[in-house]
Amino acid sequence: MKNFKTIILSNQEISPGYFRMRILVPGISQQVRPGQFLMFRVQLSLPPLLRRPFGIFQTGFLEPDCDGLPPKEFLEMVYKVVGSGTKMMSELHGGDRVEILGPLGRGFDTDVPGQEKILIGGGIGLVPLYLLADELLQKNHHVRLLMGGRTRQDIIAVTEFERLGVETYVSTEDGSLGEEGLITQVLERKLTKFPDAAVYACGPMPMLEAVQRICAGHKVPLQVSLEALMACGVGACLGCVVKGAGHSEATPSYLCTCKAGPVFKAEQLDWQQMQQSDGYCEGCKS
Ligand code: FES
Repeated sequence: MKNFKTIILSNQEISPGYFRMRILVPGISQQVRPGQFLMFRVQLSLPPLLRRPFGIFQTGFLEPDCDGLPPKEFLEMVYKVVGSGTKMMSELHGGDRVEILGPLGRGFDTDVPGQEKILIGGGIGLVPLYLLADELLQKNHHVRLLMGGRTRQDIIAVTEFERLGVETYVSTEDGSLGEEGLITQVLERKLTKFPDAAVYACGPMPMLEAVQRICAGHKVPLQVSLEALMACGVGACLGCVVKGAGHSEATPSYLCTCKAGPVFKAEQLDWQQMQQSDGYCEGCKS
């Protein structure tokens, strides 16, 4: 983990309201595990001054500007404009200065038995799944991506998964792209066909709850990446705690999403308590 000031390389709208930001990160990209996140702050900005958590979509290298210089290391975030903070981010350009803390948190465990791996993402929940798909493919797993959204505008970057060699399935609630309906209906069918699969999920809480119920019904392992209120990102403020499995007043169990997660095995969590959350943090809402 490192806290450093750096610059934006590019910041492009890839679908209405969705942006992809590439940031220069010398010495960082090779440390990133699939599912980790970073805390991002626009430097020299007026409020909102707090850092915000964002999942890491991709890492890589660019050719250097001049012979003899090392390649430029970068990482990418994909984010949705939902409030004043993300609106401010969407107006940034290449060369603007920002501050980064990361990579943070525990990522996905890719050493799960079985060859079939099903990744399921809802909207912006697709973000942490790209590096995961890449790593699973490198370990010779068969990877399927189930991607759902309300409309076709919420379906982002699917072609990039296909370029990796991932089999993709898309559904939208209004039927404007792919199958009409919820992506969890596709998951139910796939698990009937591939009962030995392991599932990895990220998206809004109603989708995660449905995924958890379906995976429990099929008795397949599930890892989920949670989105939570995060002020510090390093376990100091306790603003991101969720209740762990078996929590009660007599035996309290709290987990910091930023340190113990954001990726959890489904059996680590208290899903009754999860139902009281919409799965989006205040940072996500702004
Ligand atoms: Fe501060 Fe997790 S964000 S403890």
